[in-house]
Amino acid sequence: MRVFVTGASGWIGSAAVDELLAAGHEVVGLARSESSAASLDAKGARVHRGDLDDLDSIREGAATADAVLHLANKHDFDNPAVSSLAERNAVRTIGDALTGSGRPFLLASGVAGAAPGRPLTEDDRSPFHGLESPRGGSENLALEYVDRGVHTVVLRFAPTVHGAGDHGFIAALVAIAREHGVAGYVGDGANRWPAVHRSDAARVTRLGLDKAPAGTLLHAVGEEGVPTREIAEAIGRGLDVPVTSIEPQDAQKHFGWIGRFFALDVATSSARTQELLGWTPTGPTLLQDLDSGSYFRA
Ligand SMILES: NC(=O)c1ccc[n+]([C@@H]2O[C@H](COP(=O)([O-])OP(=O)(O)OC[C@H]3O[C@@H](n4cnc5c(N)ncnc54)[C@H](OP(=O)(O)O)[C@@H]3O)[C@@H](O)[C@H]2O)c1
Repeated sequence: MRVFVTGASGWIGSAAVDELLAAGHEVVGLARSESSAASLDAKGARVHRGDLDDLDSIREGAATADAVLHLANKHDFDNPAVSSLAERNAVRTIGDALTGSGRPFLLASGVAGAAPGRPLTEDDRSPFHGLESPRGGSENLALEYVDRGVHTVVLRFAPTVHGAGDHGFIAALVAIAREHGVAGYVGDGANRWPAVHRSDAARVTRLGLDKAPAGTLLHAVGEEGVPTREIAEAIGRGLDVPVTSIEPQDAQKHFGWIGRFFALDVATSSARTQELLGWTPTGPTLLQDLDSGSYFRA
């Protein structure tokens, strides 16, 4: 298949592109810079120059592909409305371009909005609708296109897609711990974060393209829930700094924008995803990755 990939130069996207190419797919990657274009070209992917703010470029990329994998995101965590608007506009543009075609549209989502008292499952619909909600409600917006002849598949990635070179949430927590000289967790730190190694996330993405029926919610989750206290302890070991509880009311001040995420209890099952795709996570666990030292090198 000729797959148009937005975010092809990103952390998950570059691993997913490698997976798709290795499986024999043709990749057309969206690139907004010379360096992203060069890295795609070097691995044998085709380059489609454009930007999330240039919806014509997104429309053209989607309309000329057999499938779309949408992973680009502005990630403006200080100003989430900016990211949400761009996300909604991109999803609507891609959905409209694929309407009536039956072609696959895979998009990234997250696991926030978990079910209190039990792990989130693939049967739990996102409670987020509309521009004001997290990620601009893009998951539900994309699913609306199933009834309009689009083969939408949602990829809910664990909040940490970890591995050497990660610049996401765990890298941000390490930077905060380094700055404060303490590795913090919120309250008693019993709240859990699911996790997945980058290689496993890339494999779920490729298998989802090959196998998932329209309207499927996939959980790219290797570990159901790692207590955030254990994450802080591993960061403390890695940086050789004390580990301490941060009162919930001080979390925003201590952690900044990531405080609201690190306080969440979002245990998430991937049992149905594993069964549907015949996928077993094989990458290192989050704590193994943290203890390997890659997050602490300068
Ligand atoms: N990593 C995680 O732990 C995680 C967890 C849950 C959900 N997700 C979601 O999964 C998706 C991929 O995440 P990621 O970690 O791979 O993100 P990432 O490493 O930050 O990559 C973001 C990608 O988006 C592209 N991009 C940013 N702004 C753009 C713009 N204005 N126009 C076009 N492209 C733009 C970047 O291109 P450049 O290379 O040019 O900057 C890059 O390819 C995102 O939707 C993210 O929210 C990730």
